[in-house]
Amino acid sequence: MSNITGKTKVCGIIGDPVAHSMSPIMHNAAFRELGLDFIYVAFQVSQNDLKEAVSGIRSLNIKGINVTIPHKVTIMPYLDRFEPLAKEIGAVNTVVNEAGTLTGYNTDAPGFLQALDSNGVDPKGKRVIILGAGGAARAISFALAENGAHLIILNRTYDTADKLAHHLRQKYNNQIQALPLNKESLAQTIKGGYLLVNTTSVGMSPNTAGTPVETRLLTRELIICDIVYHPLETRLLKEAQRIGAKTISGLDMLVWQGVFAFEKWTGQRPPESIMKNEALSLLGRHEN
Ligand code: ATR
Repeated sequence: MSNITGKTKVCGIIGDPVAHSMSPIMHNAAFRELGLDFIYVAFQVSQNDLKEAVSGIRSLNIKGINVTIPHKVTIMPYLDRFEPLAKEIGAVNTVVNEAGTLTGYNTDAPGFLQALDSNGVDPKGKRVIILGAGGAARAISFALAENGAHLIILNRTYDTADKLAHHLRQKYNNQIQALPLNKESLAQTIKGGYLLVNTTSVGMSPNTAGTPVETRLLTRELIICDIVYHPLETRLLKEAQRIGAKTISGLDMLVWQGVFAFEKWTGQRPPESIMKNEALSLLGRHEN
């Protein structure tokens, strides 16, 4: 970072906690690779300070911001404009500052679709089972519904899944159903399912012994995508691989949402392989 000058443009991430974010290492590697005079830093911002932090983006002329837990929804009243998809989803993970006007985007949704595409998976017309109904599930279910998938949303708190399904049905004609997350509904939905996406935190480090789907319910016909990327291979992914099912790791979505955010700030397409390798090496260091 020795060549930071008075002209260097600043991007960053706001969240709480944010110290373990993969984004600084991914974006800085891509800036270096493309020779762009940009730097990316992590800002820990508490919920109470969010409004002032957003004013700071304008006053310090920060070019771009990623937004992570817990601010993806609560940042919205402080922004000036939104792309339609972010408004529809009701969550923002990327902000672009153009002369003090802040526009909110959601790159989690296209990032997820690109992760599927880069693994040769096309959800159009297929039955997709989504586990969880929180912020990540909202972005993913809008992305899938937009692409013509039929959705079955399973959540521990049934009411949240039901609300999300209701919201989606107002916009899309695809079949969209909500069920409680339990053995019976899993067994019933997995039969005709094409893809299962885990958006819950079950299996995430340090609770790596957990899995949201009992091993005996998995079949080799069902593609498994886990958006948890720490550990890189969750118990769910390992067990699916063991029986010969196709799997997609959460790292792919993480990298692609970053690729699309980077494009919005710089107008250039970053090399996703560099971003992925940086994230892999950081995660490898965490896991060892
Ligand atoms: P994110 O933005 O990552 O989606 P979130 O909005 O807090 O985070 O959502 C977390 C999701 O994981 C929710 O669907 C939550 O289920 P509830 O709505 O019932 O809380 C789900 N989740 C978290 N821990 C879980 C557990 N131990 N078992 C099942 N689901 C769990």
